[in-house]
Amino acid sequence: MSGTRFPYEPWTVTEDGFQAAFLRESESVFALGNGLIGMRGNLEELGATGAESIQGCYLNGVFDSEPIVYGESAYGYAKNHETICSVMDAKSLSLSADGEKLDLGLCDVAEHRRVLDMRAGLLRRSFVWNTKGGCTLRVETERLVSLTRQELAATRLRVRCEAGGCLLRVDSFLAPAVIAQGDPNDPRNAAGKDRSLRIGAIRAEGTLLRMRQLTKRTGFTINCAVEHRCAFSGEVSVTGERADWIAERALRAGDTLTLERSICYTATRDGEADRWDDAAAQARSAPAFDALCAEQRACLDAFWDRAGIDIEGDDALLQGLRFNLFHLFQSVGRDGRRNIAAKGLTGEGYEGHTFWDTEAYILPVFLYTEPTLARRLLEYRYATLPKARERARVMGHPRGALFPWRSIDGEECSAYFPAGTAQYHIDGDVAHAVWEYWQATGDLDFLARCGAEILVETARLYADLGFFSEEKGGRFVLNCVTGPDEYNVLVNNNVYTNRVAEENFRSAAAALELLSARCPDEYARLSRELALDAGEPRQWLEAAERMYYPPARNGVIPQDDGFLDRKPWPLASIPKENHPLLMHYHGLVIYRHMVCKQADLILALTQYGERYTLEEKKRNFAFYDSVTTHDSSLSMAVFSILANEIGELSTAYEYFMSSARLDLDDMHRNTKDGLHMANMAGTFNCVTRGFGGMRVRDGVLSFAPVCPPQWRGYAFRVRFRARSIEVRVRPDGVSYALLGGEPITILSFGKEIELK
Ligand code: BGC
Repeated sequence: MSGTRFPYEPWTVTEDGFQAAFLRESESVFALGNGLIGMRGNLEELGATGAESIQGCYLNGVFDSEPIVYGESAYGYAKNHETICSVMDAKSLSLSADGEKLDLGLCDVAEHRRVLDMRAGLLRRSFVWNTKGGCTLRVETERLVSLTRQELAATRLRVRCEAGGCLLRVDSFLAPAVIAQGDPNDPRNAAGKDRSLRIGAIRAEGTLLRMRQLTKRTGFTINCAVEHRCAFSGEVSVTGERADWIAERALRAGDTLTLERSICYTATRDGEADRWDDAAAQARSAPAFDALCAEQRACLDAFWDRAGIDIEGDDALLQGLRFNLFHLFQSVGRDGRRNIAAKGLTGEGYEGHTFWDTEAYILPVFLYTEPTLARRLLEYRYATLPKARERARVMGHPRGALFPWRSIDGEECSAYFPAGTAQYHIDGDVAHAVWEYWQATGDLDFLARCGAEILVETARLYADLGFFSEEKGGRFVLNCVTGPDEYNVLVNNNVYTNRVAEENFRSAAAALELLSARCPDEYARLSRELALDAGEPRQWLEAAERMYYPPARNGVIPQDDGFLDRKPWPLASIPKENHPLLMHYHGLVIYRHMVCKQADLILALTQYGERYTLEEKKRNFAFYDSVTTHDSSLSMAVFSILANEIGELSTAYEYFMSSARLDLDDMHRNTKDGLHMANMAGTFNCVTRGFGGMRVRDGVLSFAPVCPPQWRGYAFRVRFRARSIEVRVRPDGVSYALLGGEPITILSFGKEIELK
């Protein structure tokens, strides 16, 4: 698909004309959310004849589960499958004029346009409908999911009769979601799971429609209330599983009908108090649509002020970047109990599961723009520690915690352990994020309450997993794990995993030392609760010191012990249509070849750059570039960052180009299942860490920016230790400005600069 489907605009994404063939993709692109509620960008009238659609309304963290059925089960396999629910639909309505029902596939509709406004936080749609009865209607709809009121969304409909006349019927309804059928051949897609919800209650009273749904196995109660505001009165009714508010009105040229709906969703679990009446009260007392728009705008103005990013001379990239940041902001959980799914709240790919994507890609975006949200993400992990401890026991570790590879509420849901549970780097990713958060914020309260405990439990896990191997000269090894690259599974000494484990050992020891010096009470509590043994930190530090890394051969660092012994599989010999490989070859075929799905060793070189020489980086970039398919969207941004570091500016730019508009241009051909959150975050990291050369070492912030020749300049803002810093880069130089906070010393190309 060409990049011109959406014209390049700095603050909006516009679809001109109804593009039926891409309806499912645009439903992901035009999705709205607020960290709790997610609504796909579905047409109000529930699709169009001849166009495939995926309907969806989600509540972050609300899922159902069912036992995983294995043909051949074995001890310790994940037991249950969690799937995000598509809850009742409150955003749809049907329109008819003199009995003719609006359907873009059948009706005479002109000037169809949809606009996602990233400053207003609104989805707008407009078109002209020439009815069979000779009436011309101008229809406008607006939709928002409130970024300031977690449980609220709202819509506005305006129908203006421009010529002729008709009897217009508006039917606003509340009904169970139309459940999308996943593709059974695509493992990335939800398929074959029972995802329907039970109905607990339906009511229609005055101007209010209400519905309660219940999950079948997980004890969630979801309430939804929709309040209607319209100058014309409507009739309400309940039929079967749906509630309707219906208004009929004879329109003549010049007449306008306006309908505003306030929508409230609440979700509670198990013993929590029911919120049935609360949902109704919130919908009833919600501010009018214009007032909600004003709040929304103020919230986004503040967000863009903190996450300000600008590229001069490349509107396509700028639009891509802003689109990515906007969707991340819409999808991230805000209460420490909800995380961010691989597809955010935009679709059902990966079934709403959270992966390492959060810590390794997404968290840095919030850490440097909205640190409170980064803390919330870490608090989510903290809240799931009990489950991670349980999982570690099942996996044979008497101490420590093992976070799930994929999950919604903390229980491991990965049915395919070689590319799932075996990814023990997840613990190190979480630990790395905790430590990076501490360095960038100095938030001692978090470290004392949650962070240190996570670090200790993950360090314990690695201490138990590994051992000092005689075979490897007494070095500490981590065997039979899978690194980030899912095309090489169950390997020994994956470099990335060993690096994150090494860092985890050191950061756990450092955190304890810090707490014992600065918060002795918290330290005493932690020691007691975790039954800390005074010798543990020493053991961790020894394992860190003696961590094993496979030696390079001819300068090439093997991604794991066996990587260079695998059979070469020159990428040029694989037909284009056989990508992604996972859809065309049995896993065993892939695993025995020297081929990578995604950045792995390259990620280690980027994240632990101080441990490698420039020569090593150059040599290994060239090698891994030649064996990586980038079948995962998590890959290219990392390659771009390292390419920058080694001075390959044009390669860095190309990789960045391919990731910045990945979803806008549907480059992976699965945008229909939802947007790729980790890649979206990766593009922000490309600007800050890649082109901007931003690093944080030992609590010091440094930059080494370069300007690609394609740009006249670029700028970005970061938050660091309660300061707001703006970096402006031009082909002939860089300038830094302290926009808020106390003076701070940073490094620019290794030279100290004091910002005042
Ligand atoms: C990637 C993983 C990633 C997952 C979810 C997979 O294709 O290989 O690294 O965590 O997608 O985004």
